[in-house]
Amino acid sequence: MSTAEQALAVNSAHEGQESEHQIDQEFLIEVTDGLSSSQKTLPCKYFYDEKGSQLFEAICETPEYYVTRTECSIYERYASEMAALIGEKALLLEPGAGSVKKIGMILEKLTNPVGFVPMDISQEILQYSSDVLSQQFPEMSIDPIVIDFLNKEQIHQIFSTLPVRPLVNKRVIFFPGSTIGNFNPDDAIVFLKQFAENLYSGDGLLIGVDLVKDTAILEAAYDDKKGITAQFNKNLLDRIDRELNATLSTGSFSHRAVFNQDKSRIEMHLVSDIEQTVCLDGNKVSFKQSETIHTENSYKYTIDSFSLLAKKAGFQLEKVWKDDNDLFSVHYFSVI
Ligand code: TRP
Repeated sequence: MSTAEQALAVNSAHEGQESEHQIDQEFLIEVTDGLSSSQKTLPCKYFYDEKGSQLFEAICETPEYYVTRTECSIYERYASEMAALIGEKALLLEPGAGSVKKIGMILEKLTNPVGFVPMDISQEILQYSSDVLSQQFPEMSIDPIVIDFLNKEQIHQIFSTLPVRPLVNKRVIFFPGSTIGNFNPDDAIVFLKQFAENLYSGDGLLIGVDLVKDTAILEAAYDDKKGITAQFNKNLLDRIDRELNATLSTGSFSHRAVFNQDKSRIEMHLVSDIEQTVCLDGNKVSFKQSETIHTENSYKYTIDSFSLLAKKAGFQLEKVWKDDNDLFSVHYFSVI
């Protein structure tokens, strides 16, 4: 029996006794598997519950987290150039659909855009971003689509129903925030490739990518003085406790962010301060002193290393914009 199956069996044995709340089995399996491997991990997609999303917004306001602020300053300065390159009658699509502000800055500068398609797995998030944007752009057609990016057929099906030329000149994927850096490079290629395969030659990708820089700047950005990033990281433990009958957050863990030079990535960990044992839905999980749970990666690229990655996915670099301090980059690629 795999650990995941064991978790399921244990959980079903508890059924009936503890029915205060329904446990999300997929969440439990992923957490159990992550905490059973030799380098313990937790799936980063669970960071963003309501509290996590609020904490992430607070991270963006910290003086150390230059990412959001710098990217926005690049759009403020160069959105007209970006819009000129994209051209008229474009259809913009945003996977993830979180950053209403950023897409707004681009849409504002486009000539006769055909519309905007926010795409997300969460209906709620889609509704929110569509509502805000419809107010900002009352004339624009905004067509949110619920989509699972792990489902290739679904992506193909959805893209094949989008309007075509001559109604639309270019379809452009907008992917800001260096979210691509939270994928490992192989997965990033797979993710981008599925768009390239469903677009036409000449269609575009406008993507925000954080750059390699001084280690001290990088590490501070993911470990701010006020400890908000630490709270964000630890919120994952709180969430597991609340939703999965666990006692992880009562353990003693510290936040750590380190730049791994070899892999060119910031790694976020939760470090066990002491030797300790915590509970996870009836099972025990032990930690040695200083053992870590690896919770997130944020890969950092150079212009060249990112262009090469995108090329492997079927995109060719057209233009790059950066801030004056070379902290962040926004790339425009076209489908080969
Ligand atoms: N993509 C952003 C980044 O890597 C946002 C992000 C993801 C983040 N996970 C994070 C920021 C954890 C701070 C901490 O910077």
